Amino acid sequence: MPKLRVLVTDKIDPAGLEPLKHDAGIELRMAVGDKAKWAEFIPSTHVWLVRSETKVTEEWLDKAKALRLIGRAGVGVDNIDVSGASRRGIAVINAPAANTISACEHSWALLLCLARRVAAADASMRGGGWERGKFMGVELAGKTLGLVGLGRIGRESAKRALAFGMKVVAYDPYISARQAEGLGIELAEFKAVLAASDFVSLHVPLTEKTKRMIDAKSLEWFKPGARLINCARGELIDEAALAEALKSGRLAGAALDVFEAEPLPADSPLRGLPNLLLTPHLGASTTEAQLKVASELSQSVLEFSARGVARNAINLPGFDPDLLEAMGPWLGLAETLGRFLGQTLDGGLKAVRCRFHGEFPTPQRHPLAVAVLKGALSTILESTLSYINAPILALERGIEHSEAAAPASEGFPRLLEVTAVTDKGERSVSGAVGADGGPKLVRLDNLLVDVTPRGKMLVLSNEDRPGMIGAVGTLLGRHKVNIADMRVGRRAPHGEAVMVITVDEDPSPELQGELKRFEGIRTVRWVVL
Ligand code: NAD
Ligand code: MLT
Repeated sequence: MPKLRVLVTDKIDPAGLEPLKHDAGIELRMAVGDKAKWAEFIPSTHVWLVRSETKVTEEWLDKAKALRLIGRAGVGVDNIDVSGASRRGIAVINAPAANTISACEHSWALLLCLARRVAAADASMRGGGWERGKFMGVELAGKTLGLVGLGRIGRESAKRALAFGMKVVAYDPYISARQAEGLGIELAEFKAVLAASDFVSLHVPLTEKTKRMIDAKSLEWFKPGARLINCARGELIDEAALAEALKSGRLAGAALDVFEAEPLPADSPLRGLPNLLLTPHLGASTTEAQLKVASELSQSVLEFSARGVARNAINLPGFDPDLLEAMGPWLGLAETLGRFLGQTLDGGLKAVRCRFHGEFPTPQRHPLAVAVLKGALSTILESTLSYINAPILALERGIEHSEAAAPASEGFPRLLEVTAVTDKGERSVSGAVGADGGPKLVRLDNLLVDVTPRGKMLVLSNEDRPGMIGAVGTLLGRHKVNIADMRVGRRAPHGEAVMVITVDEDPSPELQGELKRFEGIRTVRWVVL
């Protein structure tokens, strides 16, 4: 077995990486900050581990022909071209909860230092001063903390605020009011949160919507004399506008751990503002957090190496590895149905619809629908397809996909029905996992069949009339095509029928032509699974 080549390009806790060093199936390559080594290693790297210094750009991804997994030792993935990775079928994973507490505690360290002017008082003492009157602070009890973003760090922060006797308001349009109420937090609009808060702490990811959400305009919405803390991402704030608000006294103070440009330039005007507290991106810099992110990432890589699953993949939502394993043969069936259907279509594929009849728990539906899509696309795309890039590639081609629950179908406690919509019409196939754990096709365009989908198959739709099966068999024999299995299905005697013939040899174009011209045969499809 070739080794899984794992490249590390940022400082990641060595103790956390130990399990990778000792795994016989893994070759660990260290190239921290050394771009010449990156260029040498990246083309043959399977797994690339980074923190936030490495920028995983389109340019690097183009060179990374063997790359299957990118691991981020931390939360934010804004240093990774995630859509570029998805398009190439590369999973991106992070260590989402490992530094939550450290980042939250750092935001609190900054908040407390801002309230009590700890850093400035310390600097004054070191200069020989004793200025008790100069460093008057404010109490937290009874004040309002405004949280922007109520995810993992935001929630931890809220707990600490309540312990200090503060009131907490939050802006997070993706959290329900009921969830917030349960945490003792009031949800409000962005403007209202800024207007109500004595302290505002940012805990949102960097996205198109959050970029520069604190700018000259929104700084006007702050309560006069409020204080701002940012331990999330520098680009959330227009730094020039913040500097103005601090100079004018509109804000009493601010604390930043993250910056638009990192490292912060030595001559940045931010360094000279007396009411601004600065730390160099230290949110996750604790021994505990660094060990946890590295260990979590190592475990994910080992799991990827052993089972091919990407735990915490942020471009593979809802795919819990244990769930995938539990779905076992249904995943294979779903992909087979997609591949089968994809090869029986005439026109351009417009949509793929999955209907889950019977007992499919909700979490199972999406992975199965993606597996169907992957199977269907594998018949029309040459690129490396995976569960990760199938939805994005479908979207790029204007192929819609949907999934819906449906009542149980007679005789099947669970049945997956897949319909492909093309510009020429619709075709559908339904399947189930048989008692032997293998896939079964049980319906083709609503005609009942009993087919084990594997190998090479001729799929004919025909009129049900005497002599048809024998005549087709004779024709195949004449062309030296051996029949391994033949299944027929029909709606009613002398009506519409279907034949699925598993064969040992490929049917020549002449044979397929003869079949198409055969009286009573409507369509001839060649399916290879
Ligand atoms: P999270 O995903 O658990 O929470 C983010 C929250 O932001 C979510 O609840 C989401 O609904 C909300 N959100 C998203 N877009 C929003 C918008 N437009 N308006 C309002 N809310 C929005 O993430 P987390 O673990 O709490 O981390 C938050 C961020 O903190 C990370 O994305 C990362 O950038 C940063 N971080 C920094 C450090 C550091 O060292 N300074 C350490 C860890 C995390
Ligand atoms: C993160 O997103 O996890 C932080 O920025 C911490 C880090 O990268 O060290």
